[in-house]
Amino acid sequence: MKILLLGSGGREHALAWKIAQSKLTDKLYVAPGNAGTASVAENVDMGAEDFDSIGRFVIENHINMVVVGPEAPLVAGITDYFEQNPALSKITVIGPSKYGAQLEGSKEFAKQFMQRHHIPTAAYKAFNRDHVEDGIAFLRTLKAPYVLKADGLAAGKGVLIIEDLTEAEHELREMLGGMFGDASSTVVIEEFLSGIECSVFALTDGKDYVLLPEAKDYKRIGEGDKGLNTGGMGSISPVSFADETFMKKVEDRIVRPTIQGLYEEKIDYKGFVFFGLIKVGDEPYVIEYNARMGDPETESVMLRLENDLVELFQATADGTLGKQVIRKDPRYAVSVMLVSGGYPEHYEKGKVINGLDQVQGSVIFHAGTALKNGQVVTSGGRVMTVSSYGNTKDEALQQSFENAKKISYEGMYFRRDIGFDLK
Ligand code: AMP
Ligand code: GLY
Repeated sequence: MKILLLGSGGREHALAWKIAQSKLTDKLYVAPGNAGTASVAENVDMGAEDFDSIGRFVIENHINMVVVGPEAPLVAGITDYFEQNPALSKITVIGPSKYGAQLEGSKEFAKQFMQRHHIPTAAYKAFNRDHVEDGIAFLRTLKAPYVLKADGLAAGKGVLIIEDLTEAEHELREMLGGMFGDASSTVVIEEFLSGIECSVFALTDGKDYVLLPEAKDYKRIGEGDKGLNTGGMGSISPVSFADETFMKKVEDRIVRPTIQGLYEEKIDYKGFVFFGLIKVGDEPYVIEYNARMGDPETESVMLRLENDLVELFQATADGTLGKQVIRKDPRYAVSVMLVSGGYPEHYEKGKVINGLDQVQGSVIFHAGTALKNGQVVTSGGRVMTVSSYGNTKDEALQQSFENAKKISYEGMYFRRDIGFDLK
């Protein structure tokens, strides 16, 4: 099979690494990819949202399957684009329809969906630009902290959690006034939930689903979860508190009702559902849905998934996922993200990365790297993960740290406490 994977981050390198191992893969392309994907696949210089170029490439290169990594092409409707074009409609696309991707693309849509299907989530109200004063009045009925969410995609920056009421009122006005452009023309205000978070991943054919290994990611720049939010500083799988009892509640109350809801509402959804969960007391609640895999969770999840990923994708396309059984490596997998100095604020790019050839016993997944004059250089804030197995969490972490020490570039930084809050 000839496969085209869209995207360019660590998630895509991890997916490419796994797809390349499949006995069903004859040829793998990644568009646009990074220096890491170039080592397991052929990069194509084409944007993940450039549907016309992607369509032409698929036809010219006889691609059989397109796997969509990031959310933007899904929310922009790549699956519908393929379906509506007679020359492309037979090609398998792993990723939901534009309407299905609203689970991630519109927080209000997701909230309404959860309400319709009685899926536990924070209480909320949504307000648009015409109802700013109603939003302010609603805020005044709530207790701190205040949670404000831009309805649409805002590159991971659209959620504000604010202690002070006056500041929350000010931010609500700013958001509805266009702080995140159209993405915040509607704002969801919700109840603050206090607990510990984890990420659960389903792959669905629209009717049945399989659950991949769960993971926890670490979003803050500083150790002990301090400082600014980032795209993700590391991940770990398994998650100690996501035990059998907890996961049974997650499946019964959240995963199954979600997939059943998609099916009942005839929403065309063949792809990943990412459940961003929070455990409050002993009970799981949905913080958010995403229509794709998580980053940097995928870098740990792919290490633990023993199944042939392309076989799972084929079953997704054929509607036979119900027959698949997931096999998980029992070991721990951790991913430690190496980032650029200054990230998530100002940082420089183009730093030469040394020592990659010294790494042993870990897998490196590139995120923000590029090839320049035959050298691997940094090209983003999150540069790469050092991903490792271990029989314990600490063994896996030690392995990643040993290898991280062999890698160097100017300004390199990483957190040494991934998994610190788990047993
Ligand atoms: P998101 O951008 O939707 O991933 O949200 C960013 C982060 O905000 C989440 O990972 C949570 O840590 C936090 N968050 C979102 N909604 C709530 C909520 N209702 N209560 C507490 N924390 C929340
Ligand atoms: N790691 C969280 C996300 O991918 O949205």
